[in-house]
Amino acid sequence: MNTADNVVEMRSVSKGFNGVPVLKDVGFDVRRGEVHALAGGNGAGKSTLMKILQGVYQADAGEILISGKPVRITSIQDAKAAGIGMVFQEFSLVPSLTVAQNIFLAAEPLDRARLIDDRTAVRRARELFAEMEVNVDPRAGVSRLGTAYWQLTEIAKALSQNAQVLIMDEPTASLARHESEALFELIDRLKARGISIIYISHRMDEVYRLADRITILRDGRRLLTEPLTSVTPEQIVEGIVGKKIEGQLAYRQRDHAAHDGAPLLEVRGLTAGRRVRDVSFTLRPGEILGLAGLMGSGRTELARALFGIDRVDSGEVRIRGKKVSLRSPQQAIDAGVALVPEDRRAQGLVLDHSVRENLLLPLLGQIQRGPFLNQGAGKDLSSTLIGKFAVKAAHPQRPVRLLSGGNQQKVVIAKWLGTDPDILILDEPTAGVDIGTKSEILDMIRDLASAGKGIVVISSEYPELLAVSDRVLVLKDGSVIRDIPRSEIADEEYLQLAVQGV
Ligand SMILES: Nc1ncnc2c1ncn2[C@@H]1O[C@H](COP(=O)(O)OP(=O)(O)OP(=O)(O)O)[C@@H](O)[C@H]1O
Ligand SMILES: [Mg+2]
Repeated sequence: MNTADNVVEMRSVSKGFNGVPVLKDVGFDVRRGEVHALAGGNGAGKSTLMKILQGVYQADAGEILISGKPVRITSIQDAKAAGIGMVFQEFSLVPSLTVAQNIFLAAEPLDRARLIDDRTAVRRARELFAEMEVNVDPRAGVSRLGTAYWQLTEIAKALSQNAQVLIMDEPTASLARHESEALFELIDRLKARGISIIYISHRMDEVYRLADRITILRDGRRLLTEPLTSVTPEQIVEGIVGKKIEGQLAYRQRDHAAHDGAPLLEVRGLTAGRRVRDVSFTLRPGEILGLAGLMGSGRTELARALFGIDRVDSGEVRIRGKKVSLRSPQQAIDAGVALVPEDRRAQGLVLDHSVRENLLLPLLGQIQRGPFLNQGAGKDLSSTLIGKFAVKAAHPQRPVRLLSGGNQQKVVIAKWLGTDPDILILDEPTAGVDIGTKSEILDMIRDLASAGKGIVVISSEYPELLAVSDRVLVLKDGSVIRDIPRSEIADEEYLQLAVQGV
């Protein structure tokens, strides 16, 4: 193959942070019109490699060729000029602006003259979204939208800049099934136009659905680059995790009898804003309740209302038969409720604080000795959590901001499980975590339920929802439309139809 067929070629790229090597002699190439999957465990170096291609970081060694020509990419502007666009894993939108303004905001602040007027921006944004077959209001303020809309806006933004290579770093992490499918179809169309896509994902089904070739990174090194036709899913998983894993997504009946007591949580006629309407359900100790629904169905808003973030307009919540008022997260925590939020960066973590401080934040009560913090106990507690969740951090004192995306997610989960809540609500708990960690998180959810906790799991991944839920509550337009025991759900398709309200 002629090297000019490689729209991107990275040769012997190495990169370290503060003397810690993160990428070691990595080679990576992308052909014109190909979807190239980039896979690897949390912290393997995927995002870092792509940030080098995008001009966010500079490599310590190695070179980059675009269409066969060596280039120096020292800024995002350089990368854009070379035809490289990126959908960031960590969102880079301006919350105070509208969707349309974000899409057409010139990357360079000095470049004000190129800002287009609002009406044109809204019209062009509409066209982009129509092409993507997604329903986003270009006039909506970004801060008022959920993460899924942020991601769609990011994708539209990159597309509007005529990128020849589009880097997508876990683009479906917070999309519902039908939105992901719309994105895949869009990727197919882009591919047909000769645009190349570098696709980072922890989801094997997506990799097989989309990619022509796959490169696996392990601990900063390239393990392999192969056409998907010549590797099996088992080989890929083993390559990523470094060992075999089995039976991760099989539903396992747990013994309920031990906990079949009074309800742990009773929600009656809960209404909060326009997204949660007259919701009623019961959660027993030892039970895992799955919440299914499309994007915008009110799942996240229900979780937020139960955790005291959003104001409840009417209805009542009882915990162990006792009426509670959950008007703030602190009241919810005191009542034994914990929430692992969907948007880990905005709600789950204090990014500039250390991993340890983040882990200990909800646990301060446990390590307080009068007015002092027991530093030793705090150290022990955070080390235990870091070990238990295999959080990959150079040091517990490093800011959380410097962790890879998946490891940030682990810190959020560890932080809330550390509070030992009776009722745990998890909103897309495995978004962004690698396959090995995902199976650990699902096991952890099962174990917590077996220990008598009540668990509410929100997930857009049906296999995952079916793997752990004992019952599935289907939400649509803020209301419960179905409450189905797991035993009545034959397969994913059944659930999918239920979610669509068929
Ligand atoms: N700016 C930085 N300073 C210090 N360390 C960093 C920085 N950026 C990344 N790292 C470290 O480099 C390693 C690779 O991180 P990277 O984000 O590339 O992983 P990843 O493969 O994208 O993982 P994930 O699947 O979790 O997103 C991690 O150990 C991370 O903590
Ligand atoms: Mg990453």
